This record gives sequence, structure tokens and C-alpha cells, in this order.
Amino acid sequence: MRSGGSAARALILLATGALCSFEGAAAGVAAQAPGASATLIEQGRYLATAGDCISCHTRPNGAPFSGGRALDTPFGVIYSANITPDADTGIGTWTEQQFARAMREGIAADGTHLYPAFPYTAYTKVSDHDVRAIYAYVRSLPPVNYSPPRDAMPFPFSVRTLLAAWNTLFFEQGRYVPDATRSDEWNRGAYLTQGLGHCGACHTPRNALGGERTALALTGGDYLDEVADEVVDGKIVPMDERTVRPWAAANLTSAPGGLGAWSLDAISGYLKTGHSARAAAFGPMSEVVGNSTSRMTDADLHAIAVYLKSLPPQTPAVPGTPGPGKLRAGEIAFTARCADCHLPTGLGIPRVAEADASKTAPPLAGSAAAQAPNPATLINVILYGAHERASSQGAWPEMSGFELSVGLDDEQIAALATYVRSSWGNRAPAVDAGAVGKQH
Ligand code: HEC
Ligand code: HEC
Ligand code: HEC
Repeated sequence: MRSGGSAARALILLATGALCSFEGAAAGVAAQAPGASATLIEQGRYLATAGDCISCHTRPNGAPFSGGRALDTPFGVIYSANITPDADTGIGTWTEQQFARAMREGIAADGTHLYPAFPYTAYTKVSDHDVRAIYAYVRSLPPVNYSPPRDAMPFPFSVRTLLAAWNTLFFEQGRYVPDATRSDEWNRGAYLTQGLGHCGACHTPRNALGGERTALALTGGDYLDEVADEVVDGKIVPMDERTVRPWAAANLTSAPGGLGAWSLDAISGYLKTGHSARAAAFGPMSEVVGNSTSRMTDADLHAIAVYLKSLPPQTPAVPGTPGPGKLRAGEIAFTARCADCHLPTGLGIPRVAEADASKTAPPLAGSAAAQAPNPATLINVILYGAHERASSQGAWPEMSGFELSVGLDDEQIAALATYVRSSWGNRAPAVDAGAVGKQH
């Protein structure tokens, strides 16, 4: 079972190609959701895209929405459900009320509690109309007979009834309530970000039991992703063994270590194309962009940007000052290995006509990816490089990591990462060698 990485991504492209052909067929099988008009189904298709159902509900090589993708959590592996309208293995017998209860309360048709790896904690905000439309859409999909593997959750997490207690502690049920003091656009952005977009599922830090720390909403979270491929002798080959790698999802508030330096257009452009003048999506965010945000309307992406830019600057971890020895070692490594492209000033080389294309690079000064509370993404970039999965016009060239870290030990890589996180106005906690060691 593989997810993440370019092989999986290619499959998702195939899957979404297949999706387009379903769209044509949708009207013909609409009778499956009684009373659903073609318009409602089409609205549901768009909303399911905004909710990125396909990413989690499609396993590599599997039919779209038929489930079985392994999702890694700190508590164990959970497989997504088959949400095609197959009567035996999918949700073909579910009523709209049962579907709505799953989306809003995390409870399946038979009363079983669902794990919050399914982001019902965010989807609870979705309006009645939008839940009805998504139901109409998923009921219009071709039924696929497939049962996902059983969960690999160790005791006590295997006991689903305990989720009732979890919900009491960490889950607040309820529809999105518009803020009358804000514009319609802001409210649309808040609705999408907090609800279907479930951005906080990755970008909000969680407590020891996996509950979102709402006081620190969108200040940066952790995410585990399976690695599909690796580079051997300069060639990309599939991974031999199932490998999971930690990532940090950046701070999305307007803190200097978050989106403080991003314009509205940089945010909406990044969500549309996967890149902006400030950064590109190269990790798990590539899949979010590829399957979800790149297929959303410009108006909705602008609304998300307006909402994100309005979030007061908040930084969860206040860093100490790293020792001068560590910073000096980091600066030496940076100057030798990174400054050619990112420049000694950390300002990078913009993609302008006269720039040497092989040296252009986004700024590291003010980078949200580099300053995420958890250094996991920065460490991945140094060890494995950064490249956009879905290249489009104006994309950044690839940053190859494999040569860049050759010959550095974990201590030196930690010093390099610490230097990037403490220079040019950047301020994020120092990195220790142990954190680097875990990501080899
Ligand atoms: C982040 C991953 C993720 C996303 C995104 C996601 N799901 Fe799921 N979903 C899951 C997982 C995992 C399960 C199984 C949970 C369990 O077994 O407790 C699940 C279960 C479900 C179920 C219950 C099915 C059953 O048979 O019990 C429904 C219905 C569902 N999802 C619908 C959706 C819809 C509709 C969307 C998009 C709006 C969506 N999901 C997006 C991960 C996801
Ligand atoms: C599956 C987890 C996940 C979800 C869901 C997710 N993100 Fe991300 N996001 C990440 C990770 C991890 C990164 C770090 C870079 C990467 O993966 O390319 C990131 C990076 C970003 C960045 C760029 C930061 C930088 O400096 O590179 C922005 C902006 C962003 N996400 C916005 C969003 C928004 C808006 C949403 C909701 C619509 C969202 N993300 C949903 C995981 C996620
Ligand atoms: C050959 C030019 C080049 C070199 C050398 C280089 N980079 Fe990069 N770097 C890039 C490019 C291009 C990107 C954008 C690629 C992408 O995200 O798809 C990038 C992206 C990054 C990012 C992500 C920025 C963000 O906000 O999303 C970080 C962090 C980074 N580089 C750090 C480093 C470090 C540390 C080194 C030295 C070990 C280094 N780079 C060396 C070209 C380079």
C-alpha cells in the first residue's frame, strides 16, 4: 500500500481522469439518490472536491472513492471506507440522514464511532444544503464492490466506543455560524477553511490524544505521510518497504513565521497552481493542491486567502537562542551548499527572465515551511530535496536534496537547519541531531 510520492500522484491523476468520465455519467445514474437533480449532483461534485474526499478515499491503483487508503496516525494505521454506493461494501444502503450523521458527528449508519482521521471534526461545520449535495454526488458514483482491510490500531485505540469520550473532550459539533461583522467573502473563506477544506486537520497542532488544540488553530501541525519512491543512482524508484515520514504543516496565521510575508495573490495562486513567488508545494500539500484546491474557483481561493490573512499573528513555540558554535557550523554548511541559489541574504533568486533558471529559488527569509514549529519539513527538504509534483507554467525548478546533504552528519544537518531557522529575521526553535536521525 503506497500513498504520497510521484507514483501515487500519477495514480491520482489517473483516478481524477476517471472521475471526469463519471461526471458525464452522473446524470444518468442520478436516480440512486431520490430527488437529486443534475444541478445538485454537480454542486456536490464541486463540494466533494473542496473537501478532498478523493485523496483519502482512494487507494493506489484503486477505483476512486472505493477506500482502502492507509492513513498513518500516531495511534496506528486506519483504512478509509468505501464511499461508493455499493450496497454490500460501500454506503449504498445509507439514507441521507445517516450520511449527514457521519459527516457531522462521526457516527456510521450502524451506530459505530468513526475515527477522527476522517475529519468530521471539520465537516460538522458544513451546511445542510452542502451535505445534501455531497450525498447526491457520492450516490451518483458507480458502485464499486471492495472492502478495505481492517484497521491496524493497537489496544486501547482499537476500542471504538472510547471515541464517545474523545468526542466529549475534543469535538465541538455544530454548523458554521457567519460572523455578521465580517464581509461575505471573509465568511465564505472561513466556512471553506474550517469546514470542507479541513485545513486545520494538518495545520493545527494536536494534543497527546490527537485532539486539535483550538487555541492554537492553524499555527502549524504535524502530519505523517507514506513515502512512495526514493532516488537510487539518480533514478526515481519505488520504495522497497512501507516507509512513513513525518512532515510539518506550516503556520497559516499572519505571523512572521507563517503567511505574514504572503500577499493575497500569493496565497490564492499557490492554492491554484501549487506555487507562488514565496514557495511551492512539494510534500503532502501537493496532493491537497492537485486533488482539491487547484480545482476550486478563483473566487473561493481568494476568499480563503482573505480569511487566512485576517488571522492574527500567532506563534506557538517561543524559541531560545541557539549557541554560537551551532550557528557558525550551520552558516558554513549553508554557504557551501545552499547560498548559490537561496543567496547569503536568504532572499532567493526570483523567477525573472534574466535569472539563471538553474539557480532560481524561493526566499528562505520569512519562509513558513522552514519556520514551522516542528522542523520535519525542513529536514525532509535538506535530506530529500523539494520538487513540485504537478509542474505547471512558472513552477520552480527542482531542488535536489540528495547531493546537498552528502557528507554531512546529523549534527551538521541539525546545525544547518537551525541556522536557516534563526537567520534573516527567521525565528523558530533549534533542531537537534536526534530529530534528523529519525528522518533518514
Ligand atoms: C483525511 C482523510 C479523509 C478525508 C479528507 C475524507 N475522509 Fe471519509 N473517511 C476517512 C477514514 C479514515 C474513514 C474511516 C474511519 C473509520 O473507520 O473509523 C472515513 C469514513 C467515511 C465515511 C463512513 C463510511 C463507513 O462505511 O463507515 C463516510 C460517509 C465518509 N468518510 C465520507 C467522506 C466524504 C463525503 C468526504 C469528503 C467531503 C470524506 N469522507 C473525506 C478519511 C477521510
Ligand atoms: C494532508 C495535510 C494537509 C492539509 C489537509 C492541508 N495542508 Fe497545507 N500544508 C501541508 C504540509 C505538510 C505543508 C508543508 C509543505 C508541503 O507539503 O508542500 C503545507 C503547506 C501549506 C502552505 C505553504 C507554506 C509554505 O511556506 O510552503 C500553505 C499556504 C498551505 N499549506 C495552505 C493550506 C490550506 C489553505 C489548506 C486547506 C484548504 C491546507 N493547507 C490543507 C499539509 C496539509
Ligand atoms: C540549485 C538551487 C538550490 C540549492 C543549491 C538549494 N535550493 Fe532550496 N530550493 C530551490 C528551489 C528551486 C526550491 C523550490 C522547489 C520546490 O519547492 O518545488 C527550493 C525550496 C527550498 C525550501 C522550501 C521553501 C518554502 O518556503 O517552501 C527550503 C526550506 C530550502 N529550499 C532550503 C534549502 C537548503 C537548506 C539548501 C542547502 C542544503 C538548499 N535549499 C539548496 C533551489 C535550491
